[in-house]
Amino acid sequence: MNFSILKDDYRTKKADCLILGINSNYKPSAADSFPEEIKKIIKQAFDEKTFTGEFKSVRHFTISERPYFCSSILLVGLGDSNEQISSVRYKKMIDAVYQQIKMQAYSSITILLDGFIQNRSCSSCIKSFVGELSFQNYRYTEYKSKPETPYNPDIAFATVEDDAEEALAYSTVLKDAIDEARDLQHTPGNVGNSVYFAGKAKELENKYSSVSVKILGRSELKQEKMSAYLAVCSGSSNPPQMCIINYRGAGEQVAPVAIVGKGLTFDSGGLSLKPASGMDEMKYDKCGACVVIALMDAIARLGLKINVVGVAAFAENMPDADSYRPGDLITARNGLNIEVANTDAEGRMVLCDAISYTVDTYNPEIILDLATLTGGCIVALGHIATGLIANDDNLAKELIAAGEKSNDKVWRLPLDEEYQELIDSKLADITNSAGREASPVTAGAFLSRFTGNIPWAHLDIAGTAWNSNGYKHPTGRPLALLLEYVVSKAGK
Ligand code: BES
Ligand code: MN
Ligand code: ZN
Repeated sequence: MNFSILKDDYRTKKADCLILGINSNYKPSAADSFPEEIKKIIKQAFDEKTFTGEFKSVRHFTISERPYFCSSILLVGLGDSNEQISSVRYKKMIDAVYQQIKMQAYSSITILLDGFIQNRSCSSCIKSFVGELSFQNYRYTEYKSKPETPYNPDIAFATVEDDAEEALAYSTVLKDAIDEARDLQHTPGNVGNSVYFAGKAKELENKYSSVSVKILGRSELKQEKMSAYLAVCSGSSNPPQMCIINYRGAGEQVAPVAIVGKGLTFDSGGLSLKPASGMDEMKYDKCGACVVIALMDAIARLGLKINVVGVAAFAENMPDADSYRPGDLITARNGLNIEVANTDAEGRMVLCDAISYTVDTYNPEIILDLATLTGGCIVALGHIATGLIANDDNLAKELIAAGEKSNDKVWRLPLDEEYQELIDSKLADITNSAGREASPVTAGAFLSRFTGNIPWAHLDIAGTAWNSNGYKHPTGRPLALLLEYVVSKAGK
């Protein structure tokens, strides 16, 4: 989809379809700005009740007068103009628009944005339309011998608002990054191994002079005493690849924001093997790290005035003669001894060393991590909000706000002292699994031991990184949230 802003009179541009947002309390009056031909259609539709402006309803009309600047119009119902439309419902309305334009296969479309603004800003309308239309239109066709022809219409937003171009520029970078993240996330475990993704991370270095990329493999991790991270990889023939993507947009002295993503290219559970049913979905256990790669691409493309260190920590958790075992006692990079209660609690083993390395090496102002960490997070929050755990109230607040603004929501879970006791180990300092009770929180408590005194927030994206109903697909979440957060941070 190619999006553009149309500042000129929309009647000067030819289009297959003109899209109009119409309220249920719409009164076709003399003051109305629509051209006669279109006003006539709307009036007749209302008179005959074929279109009532009911929220989310869509109705397509062919224009009989030829030649005309548009060959059809699509009326989109927005309900009563006095009613506030939530972002969630607004998105559903855009989904209805998508279904129609795809079905009709329009190749040039003009959206009269003014009609869709209703209690929101022009820029938020543009962000919603570009985000949702692109999300719906995304297809992963890499392994289809006969892929469906891509639907690639030109879509112009007719508006005179000053901030339209800026909103579109941002939305374009965001949707490209989300598409990129989803491509990476879709890549199956047999192809998308750690070395494959390290190559993808490395590409950013050639693409941007502001980016440098360092890859730590088995021997580098050994040198750094990252035994917890290494333990997870010991049963796999794919080496660990810790990809450090360093973006410099501010002065050398400015402390960076660090963002660490869990990148399990496949999580079989290891010797604590997962059940067969649903195991295929564990190729999505790399979603966090894939978001980090695409996010760094977006940050560099926007040229934000901020320093960001993105860490994509790739590994594979497999059962093998060399696998780490339940009962193993392992000393992590920061000296903490870990009792391995369950080899399937591998995400925290990878992240703990990646976090402590990042804190010590880059002394970040803030450190975030994102991980498909616990099935318990899906039980708690379903597929709607990402779980948030933080050791800093202000950081938590900022992330919640960025989530609201980007419509990529998070919900904070507790990290009270009592939870820390649950990860005590009889044999070592901490256990990697405290069982099912409060598992997203105990996983967070585990990670909190490796952050030093740095403000830290953990995003458990187990429920939001992919969709397992019907056609299984990754979502690219929480890319929108993180880009929003980093942009607002860079602006300060
Ligand atoms: N990657 C999984 C978490 C997961 C499971 C995400 C299902 C999405 C869907 C993680 O490595 C894991 O296995 N977690 C265990 C931890 C437990 C052993 C303490 C879990 O949540 O069951
Ligand atoms: Mn696991
Ligand atoms: Zn996992």
